[in-house]
Amino acid sequence: MSVREEFDAWAAQGRDRGMEERHWHTAKHALARMPVEAGDTVVDLGTGSGYALRALAETKGIGRGYGLDGAPEMARNARQYTLDADPDADVGFVVGDFGSLPFAADAVDHVFSMEAFYYSDDPAETLAEVARVLRPGGTLYCAVNYYEENVHSHGWQDDISVEMTRWDADRYREAFRDAGLHVAEQDNIPDRDVDVPPASAFPTDGWDSREEMVERYRTYGTLLTVGVAP
Ligand SMILES: C[S@@+](CC[C@H](N)C(=O)[O-])C[C@H]1O[C@@H](n2cnc3c(N)ncnc32)[C@H](O)[C@@H]1O
Repeated sequence: MSVREEFDAWAAQGRDRGMEERHWHTAKHALARMPVEAGDTVVDLGTGSGYALRALAETKGIGRGYGLDGAPEMARNARQYTLDADPDADVGFVVGDFGSLPFAADAVDHVFSMEAFYYSDDPAETLAEVARVLRPGGTLYCAVNYYEENVHSHGWQDDISVEMTRWDADRYREAFRDAGLHVAEQDNIPDRDVDVPPASAFPTDGWDSREEMVERYRTYGTLLTVGVAP
């Protein structure tokens, strides 16, 4: 199945809002750290429901936001949610692929991506595209929950037809550098919003032990790698 088929189906089933709810737990911390200034142009790669750009428009007064997604139904929903929330927000949604970003060189101040980068069929090409469109000093905030150290994420590929790339933290830094981006920081953002029940509640439907659940959410959380264009 293609990205389009897989995620159009998710959008049609309303799973875009479910993702937003779950990813917001850690995405909000990554977004708060972005050095976005009023008037900046920001691109959200694999925008899903478009919540990240709505948040940046509301809190940081971005000049223009572009949410890019390979699934037209995702982009359509995101557009509608944004119109419903704030018809004046300067945020638009485009259908496209990470491998060929529809922006001119040096045209973008910041790029954000949450739980989307690893679906790229050529992650090195995607990073090269990001490096091309970023202006000097522009940043890439790339956040993923599916990565090598997070052993609890390894089974996710079984439930998704799109091939996923599972890099470790070192590989992310190396690939950013190979694309010409400086690595400004990399860390794990813990998810403190998921409720972890007391030990007596385990095993649960999803978890054998409380320790595993704590490790997944509080220790591994989201891996954030920040690149800066030279
Ligand atoms: C798991 S969702 C995450 C959505 C959103 N960022 C969030 O945090 O909820 C991944 C999104 O990336 C999009 N996507 C995956 N691969 C893509 C590609 N190669 N080009 C464009 N969009 C892609 C999917 O259509 C989907 O909407």
